[in-house]
Amino acid sequence: MNIIRAKDYQDMSRKAANIISAQIIMKPDCVLGLATGSTPVGTYRQLIEWYEKGDLDFSRVSTVNLDEYRGLAHTDPQSYYYFMQENLFDHVNIDKTATHVPDGTNPDAADACAKHEQIIKSLGGIDLQLLGLGNNGHIGFNEPGAAFEKETHLVDLAESTIRANARFFTSIDEVPKQAYTMGIRTIMQAKKILVVVSGESKADIVSRAFFGPVTPEVPASILQMHPDVTVVCDEAALSMSP
Ligand code: F6R
Repeated sequence: MNIIRAKDYQDMSRKAANIISAQIIMKPDCVLGLATGSTPVGTYRQLIEWYEKGDLDFSRVSTVNLDEYRGLAHTDPQSYYYFMQENLFDHVNIDKTATHVPDGTNPDAADACAKHEQIIKSLGGIDLQLLGLGNNGHIGFNEPGAAFEKETHLVDLAESTIRANARFFTSIDEVPKQAYTMGIRTIMQAKKILVVVSGESKADIVSRAFFGPVTPEVPASILQMHPDVTVVCDEAALSMSP
């Protein structure tokens, strides 16, 4: 596991965007696994800037997202589908038919999850998976206690995740209680993994996930077992780590 220390959020975003750009330059038809949440927004912004400058070409890139709330329409500004259009896809020359977010509008969980898993397999797997880190150590929506061997599946969100995500909704009651998420097994099958973490509020979980024992109680700790993981943390996020 390669842990890169960035100065602040902007530096973390630039370093992460550099790693993603290198992937696209090395393999223009690569498959990127993407995340939503606050942390990668700056990374996407940087990628858009380099695209606008003519330094990046997304025309042959395919993407698969980690997760999606169950039951939100694509037009719902809180859906991860919508987030991806707003924060990346609408601003670069990606072929939208090559972008895949789990289908939260499909009420048949088994079907939605099997289809997402099938897409990943048909693309030949994920070349580079971008991840954020939840306050409780979740990756995707794999909450503490999640089985390491799961592929894309339906999850009930942890109370702490619902509370953390309430900041994006008008009230906590509007936060969906379920989601479709890639499982730990799906994530671990990615050829390369890039984790971005920022801020003092993540300092404790960074030290437990990347410097503590591997345990289902801290889902991200399994990443220590992956052969090619890069974690880009800002100084605040690393403040409780050795
Ligand atoms: C998002 C996702 C989540 C977030 C995590 C951190 O697709 O799967 O695991 O990466 O909740 O979120 P932020 O970046 O908002 O702190």
